[in-house]
Amino acid sequence: MRIAAFVCVAAAATMVSLPSFAETVTIKFSHVVAPDTPKGKAAERFKQLAEERAKGAVKIEIYPNSQLYKDKEELEALQLGAVQMLAPSLAKFGPLGAKEFEVFDLPYIFPTKDALRKVTDGPIGKSFFDKLETKGIKGLAYWDNGFKIMSANKPLKTPADFQGLKMRIQSSKVLDAQMRQLGALPQVMAFSEVYQALQTGVVDGTENPPSNMHTQKMHEVQKHATVSNHGYLGYAVIVNKAFWEGLPADLRTTLEGAMKEATQYANEIAQKENDDSLAAIKASGKTEIYELSEAERQAWRKVLLPVHEEMAGRVGKELIESIYKATGASN
Ligand code: LMR
Repeated sequence: MRIAAFVCVAAAATMVSLPSFAETVTIKFSHVVAPDTPKGKAAERFKQLAEERAKGAVKIEIYPNSQLYKDKEELEALQLGAVQMLAPSLAKFGPLGAKEFEVFDLPYIFPTKDALRKVTDGPIGKSFFDKLETKGIKGLAYWDNGFKIMSANKPLKTPADFQGLKMRIQSSKVLDAQMRQLGALPQVMAFSEVYQALQTGVVDGTENPPSNMHTQKMHEVQKHATVSNHGYLGYAVIVNKAFWEGLPADLRTTLEGAMKEATQYANEIAQKENDDSLAAIKASGKTEIYELSEAERQAWRKVLLPVHEEMAGRVGKELIESIYKATGASN
């Protein structure tokens, strides 16, 4: 009887310890955009690759469209461990105290995507991720969206056209300075609230790559948009550091491999997604799309480039100069 009881207890103990090997790790991946955007599709690709390769050891739950959290809340949720993975836009790291990320928002700092890639894939991109670690966050990858267009209910051909317009921005001081430089009144607002704010006139306009504008149906409530390509919007895929480092090493390696491929995929599809969205906005007939002439583009640059110097105190003069050097641009 005693022996039988002992065997039972021993078996129960084994059973209790077993699940820690067989247990499925759940990763909640929260984001604010639609599933059919560069970020939404790359998140799905990561899920598919990771789950396939981990053979039941991991489940990736994706929560798009601010379903779980809005911009600011999702960063708090990551730090608290309520979600494990995010891909916020690089313009949203300032409130975390990582002000240097706002360098990505400087108007015209990246002449091309290749120039941008030199920064994200080089020592500067790595140093940004190193800095995040002090905040309990680990950076895994940089994902593209694209260059931004400006929209409003009036044509935006010259900087003077922005005078007095209330423009929604992300929570970046550089974007705030950019809009003020144009004579507009910037208003920080969560992405999930932009459509309604445009519809009701709480703000007059905004900026975003075409993929975000189209998938949030902002084109239905904006009569004009200008393909200005004045600034870049991209993402950092981040995880809760303690969670990540607590994963079994082999699972982490599998996830890193899946992330690498999802990143290549994200950066391959982003341009086409934006081109298709711009074409769809044009085809909708709801928003008139304006392409700047070379002279107009130069006029925008002239007004916006001083933002680099104005924001040097915030993001770092040396950092801005090291970006000019890495990209070969001489602003
Ligand atoms: C925005 O808030 O405008 C964008 O950052 C949304 C996104 O994640 O692309």
